[in-house]
Amino acid sequence: MQFAKRLEPLQANVFADMDRAKARAKAAGQDVIDLSLGSSDLPASESVLEAIATSLRDPDTHGYLLFHGTQAFRQAAAQWYTQKFGIAVDPETEVLPLIGSQEGTAHLPLAILNPGDFALLQDPGYPSHAGGVYLASGQIYTMPLLAENGFLPILEDIPEPVLSQSRMMVLSYPHNPTTAIAPLSFFQKAVAFCQQHNLVLVHDFPYVDLYFNGSAPPSVLQADPNKTCSIEFLPCPSPITWVVFEWAMRSAMRN
Ligand SMILES: Cc1ncc(COP(=O)(O)O)c(C=O)c1O
Repeated sequence: MQFAKRLEPLQANVFADMDRAKARAKAAGQDVIDLSLGSSDLPASESVLEAIATSLRDPDTHGYLLFHGTQAFRQAAAQWYTQKFGIAVDPETEVLPLIGSQEGTAHLPLAILNPGDFALLQDPGYPSHAGGVYLASGQIYTMPLLAENGFLPILEDIPEPVLSQSRMMVLSYPHNPTTAIAPLSFFQKAVAFCQQHNLVLVHDFPYVDLYFNGSAPPSVLQADPNKTCSIEFLPCPSPITWVVFEWAMRSAMRN
């Protein structure tokens, strides 16, 4: 079977590589401490398990949903966001439940990039950010994250010929794997930059609640309260579903 050329860059996968390395080490009788995957080794809380079990037994949950989940879920997600960050979001038009932020970040470039357009990605960054750009036949410009810059990209270093062909920038803080947290002032700078260059600013925010006392990471929407260009992927109060705030896509479609 011959596959499409756009799949060629997706042959390598760091998680598959690590999995094979683990299997080899285990087969060789080595004692493996597995730090390769940020998967939880704690059980889900009893209240969450009970809520899932109760809804599984409810036949009302056995039918199809349309594309944006239940209203109650969207309202809970919007309320959670507003309580946490003080910014109102419309549960009807600005909240979209997804399978996960991996799925969301991989699909989003299909909605934003035309073939050949650039996406500005962090290096190092999460694999689905690049994978989605390849699937959309886009090009990647990597913004190096260096310790001496606090693992923040230097936006002024992006060359003008790349910028003029770019449609989106993807950021993710607290950052995997460096753990860096971007201050609100950096997001303000990034929002102004993306407004100036007509870029969609995507913020992948899975570690919203993973921080030490007193250093809560900001949401990109605190820097873009009028929702001019930003989309954020967030975990929900429940551990099973994530949301994307999709106003930038709607405004992009209007324009
Ligand atoms: C930066 C980042 N984005 C996305 C994901 C995956 O998110 P999800 O499980 O919601 O697909 C991870 C998981 O490691 C991650 O580190």
